[in-house]
Amino acid sequence: MSSAAENVRVIDHPVIQTKLTELRDYTSDHRKFRALLNEIASLMVYEVTREWPTTARPVQTPMERTTGRVLARRVTLVPILRAGLGMSDGVLHLLPDARMGHLGVFRDEKTLEPVSYYKKFPPDIASTEVLLIDPMLATGGSASAAIQVLKQSGVGSMRFICLVAAPEGIEAVHRQHPEVPIFCAAIDRELNEKGYILPGLGDAGDRLFGT
Ligand code: PRP
Ligand code: URA
Repeated sequence: MSSAAENVRVIDHPVIQTKLTELRDYTSDHRKFRALLNEIASLMVYEVTREWPTTARPVQTPMERTTGRVLARRVTLVPILRAGLGMSDGVLHLLPDARMGHLGVFRDEKTLEPVSYYKKFPPDIASTEVLLIDPMLATGGSASAAIQVLKQSGVGSMRFICLVAAPEGIEAVHRQHPEVPIFCAAIDRELNEKGYILPGLGDAGDRLFGT
């Protein structure tokens, strides 16, 4: 993957777009926001995992013995706290065997620089497929910092899943981590002077948790 465009996959399925539009709506309260966020995350998993390798596994059906296929590698889901938590249940719904790591990162409201404050990963995370999740990719500072932490922990294979991405954030992540694929449901127009995505959906963490 050599350009930002090649590194990004917009999953523009009609059902996802319908739910994303409801999510953007400022009248959606935290209960609806939470449900929609998980539903969209679930729907995105199909496309995000499409190229994962599988391995043969014998299975005895009620009729005869045959060979099925299962995911070749274990999966670790890593939400970026807080808002990434809002997508976790949706992803786990389809990948119930996944383990979870947690990464606490918030961005300083004045400088917009990421501040890391928490990290807890499964001990064997380096040998697993990692899905890093956060609904918002704005300046790209938080995602880039999170990817850096995962790399320092030995992770070689990861994908970043977000809902709404700003061109600035895609560019920033691509510049620092060109090999990490980004999956999103929409690429929005731009950031405003406070680093919020336009048209965006506002502050994802606040809307999710009602803060
Ligand atoms: C939001 C969002 C991302 C980050 C994106 O988190 O969930 O983590 O901002 O912005 P960036 O691309 O410019 O870094 P926030 O910092 O509001 O923390 P919170 O989820 O704890 O509220
Ligand atoms: N974080 C959010 O939650 N929303 C934005 O628009 C930008 C960063």
